Amino acid sequence: MKDNIILAGFMGCGKTSVGIRLSYQLKRTLIDTDKWIEQRQKRTVSEIFASYGEKAFRDMETACLKELIGTAEGQIISVGGGLPLKKENHELLKKLGRVYYLKVTPEAVYERLKGDTTRPLLQVEDPRERIRILLAEREPVYEACADVTVEVSNRTFEEILEQITKERHLYVKNDEGGREAG
Ligand code: S3P
Repeated sequence: MKDNIILAGFMGCGKTSVGIRLSYQLKRTLIDTDKWIEQRQKRTVSEIFASYGEKAFRDMETACLKELIGTAEGQIISVGGGLPLKKENHELLKKLGRVYYLKVTPEAVYERLKGDTTRPLLQVEDPRERIRILLAEREPVYEACADVTVEVSNRTFEEILEQITKERHLYVKNDEGGREAG
């Protein structure tokens, strides 16, 4: 497994905000798979969904993971909320690094994203209901691909960062201990 910190979770769970703060704290660069794809395609995620459809976007996410496995080391990687849905991506995520799942409630997502126009899947009449349904479907998938679950609703950034960095510290220490013993 490569030494990358992967942040996964539903839209609006705070992957970008947590990623930016972690990036400062740990002095690691931050890669965002949505931005990576947008730069490659020279189109926004919404434009990609509108022009090519969701399936094509999902394939771009898989291609992005494959490329990052070859190039990313020691980085923080924030992955799009739907990326863990594809089974093939679970193995790729495992190779790419340790997955921290930022777990959020549907109410918190709705409050954070109401009025947002950049998430094509939420441009519906009743975004609150769409969030509730999608999150219920996806939660088991996020849990399945996570190494660590981090509750984010009703917690400060300091608390979230502390959990991630402490866990990481322990993980790295154990890993080094294991290697020395072996
Ligand atoms: C999606 C999440 C978005 C983006 C796209 C689809 C999803 O990323 O990849 O709109 O299916 O949950 P964020 O989780 O960064 O908002």
